[in-house]
Amino acid sequence: MKENLTVEQIREVLKNVKAPAARASIIELNQVVKVEVRESSVVVDISLKEHSSLVEKSLKFQIEKAIAELSSDAQVAVNFSHPQEHETAKPQNRIGSIIAVGSGKGGVGKSAVTVNLAVALQRAGHRVGILDCDIYGPSIPTMLGVADQKPMMLNGRIQPIQAFDLKVMSAGFFVEPGQGLIWRGPMIHKLIQQFIQDVDWDGTDVLLVDLPPGTGDAPLSLSQTIPLTGAVMVSMPQKISLIDVHKGASMFNQVKVPILGVIENMSHYVCPSCSHDEEIFDRGGVEKFCKEQGLAYLGDIPIDSRIRKLSDEGRPYLQDNLDSPAGKAFVTISKRLAPFIRTAEDVEELDAIKVSI
Ligand SMILES: Nc1ncnc2c1ncn2[C@@H]1O[C@H](COP(=O)(O)OP(=O)(O)O)[C@@H](O)[C@H]1O
Ligand SMILES: [Mg+2]
Repeated sequence: MKENLTVEQIREVLKNVKAPAARASIIELNQVVKVEVRESSVVVDISLKEHSSLVEKSLKFQIEKAIAELSSDAQVAVNFSHPQEHETAKPQNRIGSIIAVGSGKGGVGKSAVTVNLAVALQRAGHRVGILDCDIYGPSIPTMLGVADQKPMMLNGRIQPIQAFDLKVMSAGFFVEPGQGLIWRGPMIHKLIQQFIQDVDWDGTDVLLVDLPPGTGDAPLSLSQTIPLTGAVMVSMPQKISLIDVHKGASMFNQVKVPILGVIENMSHYVCPSCSHDEEIFDRGGVEKFCKEQGLAYLGDIPIDSRIRKLSDEGRPYLQDNLDSPAGKAFVTISKRLAPFIRTAEDVEELDAIKVSI
């Protein structure tokens, strides 16, 4: 270089350099990270919020021109960086409360109870989501008539499917119908992490999680991975079902998830034509069990064939049957969960995943 340029001189001329449509110069906006003068060359590092080749071209041209006016033979290198790529604030994902619905055994009505409790809570004014984590038998999409839908990505987040004013996410959306998948521990962990962190649940007051039945690896690791407010257990009244609830309750205790209470499903059957009340199983078994175990009893739901029929048809029973005995039972039970529900605005950002497996 004929003249010895100084950093100050260069910074002075950069005060006239402005990105197209910018409100101030790159100096005023603190976009000049570094100016370096080596023998015959000048290096200028610029930090930009957004990627725009137009902005970069324009700035490079202006900077080279401004420095050339100071010293025509200076070799100028302009580098751009986008630091905010690494510092992007995580989008919010506030969920007021996350309640798992678990059972010892399969087939006791866990998914049917999840769906109808969700509708009852939604009718009470809560914003409700259902996360179907029953990786071995995800039936929530069928029960809500959305089995053929595929979740979309928006702004880097998986969008839940909307059904009956509920936000829904399920392992079933990612598996072809009728195709079994062998889930290994790390896969389950990764899937559940994504279901909680990468799905856009923001603004959900209560998220009901349909857990896989039993106390095997899958329900255990799920209970550890999801930051649960508590768990509700579903059982049929007979002893066979209760033995497994006992095991399920021990599992929740082991991972320090509070058990909010137990529901007796398919408690009894009221004949629609003659009103005869038939106690097919062992009505009252769950309440008795809860007393013995010091657990809260949440109530019973009778057998109503329309629950099964509407489940298969993809419409929640409670949508049209609020005044039936089973309908009233779902509403009563949902009210008993009210003390455990916080609104999304009541919580800070979702707690980090509790335990890494
Ligand atoms: N109270 C009930 N009355 C009649 N049918 C019911 C009742 N609860 C559940 N069902 C039906 O029983 C079957 C098993 O219930 P489901 O919710 O799939 O069980 P799980 O999720 O525990 O495996 C389903 O066909 C469901 O519609
Ligand atoms: Mg189920």
